[in-house]
Amino acid sequence: MSYIVAIDGPAGSGKGTLTKVVAKELGLVSIDTGMLYRCHALAVVRNNIDLDDKENIIKIMDNIEIKLKNENNIQTVFLDGEDVTDQIRLPEVNNTVSLTSSIPEVREKVTELERKIGYDWLKEGKNIIMEGRDITTVVFPEAEIKIYLDATPVERAKRRMEQQARKGINETFQEVLESIMKRDKNDMNKKVGALKELQVQYIYINAIKL
Ligand code: DC
Repeated sequence: MSYIVAIDGPAGSGKGTLTKVVAKELGLVSIDTGMLYRCHALAVVRNNIDLDDKENIIKIMDNIEIKLKNENNIQTVFLDGEDVTDQIRLPEVNNTVSLTSSIPEVREKVTELERKIGYDWLKEGKNIIMEGRDITTVVFPEAEIKIYLDATPVERAKRRMEQQARKGINETFQEVLESIMKRDKNDMNKKVGALKELQVQYIYINAIKL
């Protein structure tokens, strides 16, 4: 019988790294749900929708098509048929996604999409590993294995700085730390789908080295 591994945790905790390793070792299909929220945020940016204009931020969900492709655990994301895997990492998207992903109506639609993607793979007889902020609590609370991955803000900022430096983006430690702490606050205070620590199965990993 197919099974689901769900992983949640704050920015920079190493969810992506752990997901890749586990998927490879156990032959699971990995799904990074942040890519879906980023794709919607990119559509908001491209359509010059004001961040105060909640109505249109919600409405645009009905006018776009978001598709995730997974080949040998390399994920690509398509917005209306265009591969936007690189564009969803642009600073404009980073600055938008925190707000757009906190809107309950947006979350409802993305959650629907996440469940569909998950069930489609399960129907094909695959096992899946899905990472995000609310996978263990909202999207797949019935997952067979649930993990909450965490590290101190300082360790996460160090890791994020190294990742950015490898991409040629140079930010100071203070800038990265402040951005991580701001995102933690946003992620943990969402009205719907807030990041919550699991009370039952709990794994605390301080500083996974990439
Ligand atoms: O994991 P990430 O940094 O790519 O996620 C991008 C944004 O989407 C981030 O602000 C958190 C949000 N997100 C969310 O609210 N729920 C998820 N399941 C995944 C991501």
